[in-house]
Amino acid sequence: MLQRTKMGQRFWEKLHLALALLLLNLGSAVTGGDPHNCYGAPGLPGMPGVPGKDGRDGLKGSKGEPGIPATLATRGPKGMKGEPGSPGLPGKTGPKGLIGPTGDPGIMGMAGQPGMPGSYKQKHQSAFSVTRQTNEHPLKNVPVVFNHVITNTNHDYNTTTGKFTCKLPGFYYFTFHSSQTSNLCVILYKDENKMASFCDHQTNTMQVSSGGIVLHLHAGNQVWLAVNDYNGMVGIINSNSIFSGFLLFPD
Ligand SMILES: *[C@@H]1O[C@H](CO)[C@@H](O)[C@H](O)[C@H]1NC(C)=O
Repeated sequence: MLQRTKMGQRFWEKLHLALALLLLNLGSAVTGGDPHNCYGAPGLPGMPGVPGKDGRDGLKGSKGEPGIPATLATRGPKGMKGEPGSPGLPGKTGPKGLIGPTGDPGIMGMAGQPGMPGSYKQKHQSAFSVTRQTNEHPLKNVPVVFNHVITNTNHDYNTTTGKFTCKLPGFYYFTFHSSQTSNLCVILYKDENKMASFCDHQTNTMQVSSGGIVLHLHAGNQVWLAVNDYNGMVGIINSNSIFSGFLLFPD
């Protein structure tokens, strides 16, 4: 629509110009003719035409030079500080840190209540003496059972099995005296290990054979006596066979 209006405007401008030229030509033709002819005097020049409409917009101009940078004097005043923003969402959990150094030791606790009074005598004693009261010869290669108790603290010697069981670790002394009616070998065992053998050949109708040993024992160690084929051990009135042991030094 705008284009059409402009086109129409140009057309009328052109027509205007063509008419003006035609009038000028007509005038000269009239004046260039015979002065003596009968045409009247030329007319006065016409009124100037109305100014034309504005021309079209020109092309875009080239870019101008950069402006002078603003100075402090020309810069506007600094604005007021804005309101603080709302806090952001919490961030992700970071990676685990290194193990820190060991802390200082805590303060010493209070002393506890005094304990119950102990009994050194009860706790650190072990001694037994047991006799064999039978005229039967003992079985070979099994513990000789001394069935009669003279002394037996805490039942350390078992009169059923014939074995001493250590409860208090330490150094022990074991000894035996055996009435002998025939050849006799007495072997002292500590947990299936032969620790000592004492053999005597009978030279009298009744003689006493003996032996002794010091052993270091741990709790649970067992000590017993056994005989082999030479088993002439008896325990009869006025001629006992006796097995004894006691704790020398506790650990
Ligand atoms: C002796 O040993 C037997 C067999 O192991 C057991 O039954 C008994 O309780 C023991 N006796 C003592 C006083 O420990």
